[in-house]
Amino acid sequence: MLEFLYFRGNYSFYMANIWLKKPMSAYHDDIKNNKMKQVLGKWSLTAIGIGAIIGGGIFVLTGTGAYYHAGPALALSFVIAGIACVFAALCYSEFASILPVEGSAYAYAYGTVGEIFAWIIGWGLILEYAMGSMTVAVSWSGYFNKMLHLFGITLPAYLTSDPASYTGNGFSMNLPAFLIVLFVISLLVKGTSNAAKANNILVVMKVSAVLFVIIAGAFFINQENWHPFIPDPAKVLEGDKVKEAYGIKGIISGAAAIFFAYVGFDAVSTQAGEAINPKKDVPFAIITSLLVCTVLYILVSLVLTGMMHYSDFNPAGKYPDAIKAPVAYAFDIAGQKWAGYIITIAATLGLISVLMVMIMGQSRIFMGMSKDGLIPKVFSDLNTKTVTPQKNLMIIGLVIAVVAAFTPISKLSEMTSFGTLFAFTMVCIAVWLLRVKEPQLERTFKVPFLPIVAVLGIAINLFLISQLSNEAKFISLGWLALGLLIYFVYSVKNSKLQKKS
Ligand code: ALA
Repeated sequence: MLEFLYFRGNYSFYMANIWLKKPMSAYHDDIKNNKMKQVLGKWSLTAIGIGAIIGGGIFVLTGTGAYYHAGPALALSFVIAGIACVFAALCYSEFASILPVEGSAYAYAYGTVGEIFAWIIGWGLILEYAMGSMTVAVSWSGYFNKMLHLFGITLPAYLTSDPASYTGNGFSMNLPAFLIVLFVISLLVKGTSNAAKANNILVVMKVSAVLFVIIAGAFFINQENWHPFIPDPAKVLEGDKVKEAYGIKGIISGAAAIFFAYVGFDAVSTQAGEAINPKKDVPFAIITSLLVCTVLYILVSLVLTGMMHYSDFNPAGKYPDAIKAPVAYAFDIAGQKWAGYIITIAATLGLISVLMVMIMGQSRIFMGMSKDGLIPKVFSDLNTKTVTPQKNLMIIGLVIAVVAAFTPISKLSEMTSFGTLFAFTMVCIAVWLLRVKEPQLERTFKVPFLPIVAVLGIAINLFLISQLSNEAKFISLGWLALGLLIYFVYSVKNSKLQKKS
């Protein structure tokens, strides 16, 4: 077994076993000592899943998926990405049924593959949750501005652009992005029950909007647009790069391109500490929210490619802007401009719930890491009145708000997919390991055909990682390397498990 030597302040040598695993009994103690209020029932948990999944992705990425990748077979790309997520969702569900604690993939890895892996996953989850929140805040600002335009209001560019993207002189910031994060934090610190109620309302609104797109759009489908359903492979120009599109390959690369639209269902597992009946309801909510969204996404993509020919999303073609807001544009072309209003308002409201669940998820993961001593204690302090990790939420919120307002973060949104896929891969590995090592543990949900599901889950997730841009992979690996540095400088010395052992 690998061991690591390090200095303490008194210059004595200590041995730290970086592969230490948190024993199951320690998790049970955590569950017993959990002071959070158990307020989330199975439908609130499902709404949390849907709240995190349906955001801007479905309204924005479908044009790119159709034109640069799959054509009308975009619906099959959604099926493939959905299946990839189902493998991970099943594995998350089995874990949540054994360990209903707030740390999600981080906590699952700590009990199975060891501390250093758990740390790296927890650190990687920052890409999914905190960085995801930053990019969502920026896209919310974009939708909010669009909504204001509809009502004839235009904010000055210096208040809607980060300094790097601002073309004028002097001060600039993305003020709406900054303020929406503060607004969400103000809701979250008041208590999980209130936040869940607000989320339920937002989810009903955005699911209604998606259903509206499907039902109203169905009237404008021209079935000719679906022929051929899988276009022959062809080359398309993206900027100055020539890309292979369509055919089977296009369907697969399309799955990677639209994957972001599925990001979020695992956030349900971060709320296990506040669930009334976590062992049953968390697996139910993870799987139900994913299935509901998969069906909605497949239908939206069918309707969209039926309303507009996929080649019309060509940015160098007759509708150069269609690819930026494909769903709203398709209705525009069908002469239904008003539908664009509904979509813009729905996306603006819908993204608030994505932001809410993402930030809540990040705070709970930090809470789990802090309870284990890997990050400072301030992240697990609970406010006695609201029983929420108030200081934790405020620190996270401030960082997210500042980065969203002052940096061109949206360019790095693929890192969110990297963090997510990385966690999914680890969860598939960890659930399998635990089944082999501790088969006797009580599991209220068991993944059927586990070895096959885990292997397929690992393979698909690694494949999707390979499809990300080199820039995203390079920066994400740099992020993980920084995480390792922090682990050796701080966490390994403060780890409760290390101290005990
Ligand atoms: N899945 C979320 C979205 O599409 C993150 O915005």
